[in-house]
Amino acid sequence: MFQHWQIKILLIILLSFIVVCHPAQKDYEALAIAITTEAKSNLQQKLMAKMKEGGTALALPFCKENALGFTNTFGNEHSVRLRRLTNKPRNELNWLTKEETDIFLEIQKEKSKEGVYPNRMISSNNLVTVYVPIVIMGQCLQCHGKTSDISKETSAILAKHYPNDKAIGYEVGELRGLFSVEFLK
Ligand code: HEC
Repeated sequence: MFQHWQIKILLIILLSFIVVCHPAQKDYEALAIAITTEAKSNLQQKLMAKMKEGGTALALPFCKENALGFTNTFGNEHSVRLRRLTNKPRNELNWLTKEETDIFLEIQKEKSKEGVYPNRMISSNNLVTVYVPIVIMGQCLQCHGKTSDISKETSAILAKHYPNDKAIGYEVGELRGLFSVEFLK
């Protein structure tokens, strides 16, 4: 039979094994929300500053030049791969993949009564990806709304820069796309 002290030692070994093998899990969802909230607010600030300076004539080309680069760099600075993806892209580099489209449609279906879309977390062997919804607000309509929301001038600039533009016809509260935040485990 084991002595009392032997059982104690066994218990200590067992406990330390459990603690060492289960390090505190990172809260990926909270991190993703913090990163995307900051990215969104930076993008909106830049956009609003350009709109004030020269309306959509200045803001649209500015977005074309900078939106994707900013998103990439911002992700790198936070050690994640950050992307804005959609089923109706203006910039064709922002298409969702087939699997991501399924996730988009699921999130779209699960809109709450209060108009809130859920986040979604997908884990694979070495990656955790958190998808955070991007929702249309009033200020987006002048560039993403229905024909009646978009000025003639803006329409002309859009047609020039984005002949295959799919990102129009939205209403406030609709799901515009997803931030994809990819963490290396
Ligand atoms: C001044 C016009 C303008 C306004 C206002 C605007 N956008 Fe955009 N948006 C653009 C342009 C231009 C692009 C394409 C950028 C690029 O070429 O990478 C874009 C791209 C996007 C994308 C990336 C997916 C895609 O279609 O390529 C998302 C998501 C998006 N906008 C959401 C919004 C939301 C949400 C708002 C409101 C908070 C908003 N936008 C307001 C002009 C605008």
